Amino acid sequence: MGLGGLLGTLLVTLLGTLGAGKSSVPRLQLSFRDLLATNRSTLFLGPRGRLDLRALYLDEYRDRLFLGGRDTLYSLRLDHAGPDPKEILWPPRPGQKEECILKGRDPQSECANYVRVLHPYNRTHLLACGTGAFQPLCALIAVGHRGEHAFSLERASVEGGRGRCPHEPDSPFSSAFVGGELYTGLTADFLGREAVLFRSGGARPALRSDTDQSLLHDPRFVGAALIPDSGDRDNDKVYFFFSEAAALPDGGSGQAVVSRVGRVCVNDAGGQRVLVNKWSTFLKARLVCSVPAPGGADTHFDQLEDVFLLRTKDGKSPEVYALFSAVSAVFQGFAVCAYRMADIWEVFHGPFAHRDGPRHQWGPYGGKVPFPRPGVCPSKTTTQPGRPFGSTKDYPDDVLQFTRAHPLMFHPVLPRHGRPLLVKTHLPYRLLQIVVDRVEAEDGAYDVIFLGTDAGSVLKVIAFQTGKSGEPEEVILEELQVFKVPTPIIEMEISVKRQTLYVGSPLGVARLRLHQCETYGSACAECCLARDPYCAWDGHTCAHYQPSSGKRRFRRQDIRHGNPALQCLGQSLGGEAPGDVKATVVYGTEHNSTFLECRPKSPQAAVHWFVQRPKDQQPDQVKTDERILQTEHGLLFRRLNRLDVGTYSCKTLEHGFAQTVAKLALEVIGAEQLEGLFPREPAEGEATPRSAPTRAWYKDILQLIGYANLPRVEEYCERVWCGDRYRRKGKHSKGKSWLGTELGKKAKSRAQGERNRTPREVEAT
Ligand SMILES: *[C@@H]1O[C@H](CO)[C@@H](O)[C@H](O)[C@H]1NC(C)=O
Ligand SMILES: *[C@@H]1O[C@H](CO)[C@@H](O)[C@H](O)[C@H]1NC(C)=O
Ligand SMILES: *[C@@H]1O[C@H](CO)[C@@H](O)[C@H](O)[C@H]1NC(C)=O
Repeated sequence: MGLGGLLGTLLVTLLGTLGAGKSSVPRLQLSFRDLLATNRSTLFLGPRGRLDLRALYLDEYRDRLFLGGRDTLYSLRLDHAGPDPKEILWPPRPGQKEECILKGRDPQSECANYVRVLHPYNRTHLLACGTGAFQPLCALIAVGHRGEHAFSLERASVEGGRGRCPHEPDSPFSSAFVGGELYTGLTADFLGREAVLFRSGGARPALRSDTDQSLLHDPRFVGAALIPDSGDRDNDKVYFFFSEAAALPDGGSGQAVVSRVGRVCVNDAGGQRVLVNKWSTFLKARLVCSVPAPGGADTHFDQLEDVFLLRTKDGKSPEVYALFSAVSAVFQGFAVCAYRMADIWEVFHGPFAHRDGPRHQWGPYGGKVPFPRPGVCPSKTTTQPGRPFGSTKDYPDDVLQFTRAHPLMFHPVLPRHGRPLLVKTHLPYRLLQIVVDRVEAEDGAYDVIFLGTDAGSVLKVIAFQTGKSGEPEEVILEELQVFKVPTPIIEMEISVKRQTLYVGSPLGVARLRLHQCETYGSACAECCLARDPYCAWDGHTCAHYQPSSGKRRFRRQDIRHGNPALQCLGQSLGGEAPGDVKATVVYGTEHNSTFLECRPKSPQAAVHWFVQRPKDQQPDQVKTDERILQTEHGLLFRRLNRLDVGTYSCKTLEHGFAQTVAKLALEVIGAEQLEGLFPREPAEGEATPRSAPTRAWYKDILQLIGYANLPRVEEYCERVWCGDRYRRKGKHSKGKSWLGTELGKKAKSRAQGERNRTPREVEAT
């Protein structure tokens, strides 16, 4: 193994310990059906069963949700009047589809008008732009005043949208609408090569960036937004978040990816002689999100996937939450880092990066920086007596030339606490979208992070610092399968007012409630163990926690420690006293294997087994060995012994809270008894006996998959059972049926449990 490989392995181990462990398992997994059956989620897929969604705009002022799809726009009401969906058909211009096909583009996936821009234009209109089958176009959409449900395209307003919308339906792109002008970060040409930052649509001439790789190098834009610096409107800036190619730091060949925050002044008017109609205030800095390691061997997450701006209640500058990925030959990982605007400003106020020396290394620019400082907006600070810099057009040439030569800041922006809030590796899916909600809980404020995957699901996670050293801790509260089939989540918008998340995928959009506290259970302890900042025990039920609600009722909540022993003192703990759980009788056959199932609600709980043998006074903890194995889903006896008879209790422990989950009275049928019952195996074509005895098959399975993989036995059996079920659909049922066996039954109940429950079964349980 080369050094690289060795490092890779170490890295995987290190990240494994970071991201793995019980906390990386969601505490609650809700299937698509569960979500629909409990009204946690409702779907809108449009009249044709698929939207081909590309843009989503949540309008909290008008209580509307606007969607941009393929050749269509939709408007949904969010108020009590019900969705009342309205549709606008907006195909490409006549002849454009044919031209697009002639140019060799894909008729199915590219030669249509994919709406990618939706912004509020004024009090009665939206601005919409679409790809127009590779001929971008923009138009105004009349949506009416608040309370009305008007929705129509202003035909006279349709115009070319080049620079305002990409040609492709899926190329990375972001836009912001500020002061009547549209800011875009995109590749603006037909071939998708010319990356620019563009501003257009206002009274001023359009402004764009130079096509220069030192400004933008194969950028992937993920976000754009106005973030004011101060109370002074003259200082307003639009920020762009993107990743781009960068030369490798060691000067070697090849490229690396780095993530950036870039910005321009809203009042940038370009230069007079230099940079005419080009940005004169563009600067960028590196966004770092890495896991620190001793000796500087940090693990970097360099590819920016999405950005969310958390606007705080005081209306001051937002906090920037960014989702990153790292893809290397050895692992795929994701990380979330949070940045303070103050830290971003400090980097932009710091030294400029400058390439110098014989090896063209980057260093801080040490020479004299011209006045006004490059990148500063024309404002009171620049218009000093005798120096009338009221517009960037008044900036001296040397200032503009310096800006053009030094667009990059020397220092990178580091995340809060110097490391990621959470790191996820070895996930079975990719993470694409992030939304954050700051929630007031009994023991403080928590950031609840919603992550959209490429598998049509959403993760709800809390991350916080614990202990004196501020060790990061994360809890995956829920994994929600929002869409029936795997599909990438491409848009997520949160409405705190409605306590709702709007989740968009190419298929359609889902309205998902942020919480459904009763799902966690009907006991104080279960509510407490959920550690969901949205939920608290109110004395009777697990209910939505609202700190501001005037009448302060009885509240029990403990997010940080999730300790029900403290929180639920004197309350119904939900964990029954040992005598309360009724024992179920289970039969096993001597010398054969048998399985006692115990599936705790929370995969994060520690499981202990106890046995009360017929003649013993006290229950004993079950001693596991070669013969008796404890797996993730229960207790496995590889070879049953007559002395195994007894009542087995499965107890879970989570944050100091013990609960008896299952109680099973095991009876052992002697080998000689069994022989008398079932003398032989049924031959081919013969009907399978309904209660086939346990057979040697378990041994075969173990040999097949190896003893080391015992936890996978269950999984394997489920597959075998399902396969068997499909075979049974055919006329011939082969001799060996798992159905009658103990393990077969378990596998069946699992296969039908949780993930595949029908709505009726949900109601019944
Ligand atoms: C879900 O909502 C529908 C319609 O609003 C209602 O009829 C149904 O009872 C609700 N189901 C549950 C489980 O709340
Ligand atoms: C919004 O803009 C459109 C198009 O310019 C115009 O017709 C409409 O009157 C404007 N609405 C308001 C409320 O100003
Ligand atoms: C299971 O029981 C049957 C019948 O007693 C016996 O033939 C078989 O060998 C047993 N299997 C194992 C794995 O011991």
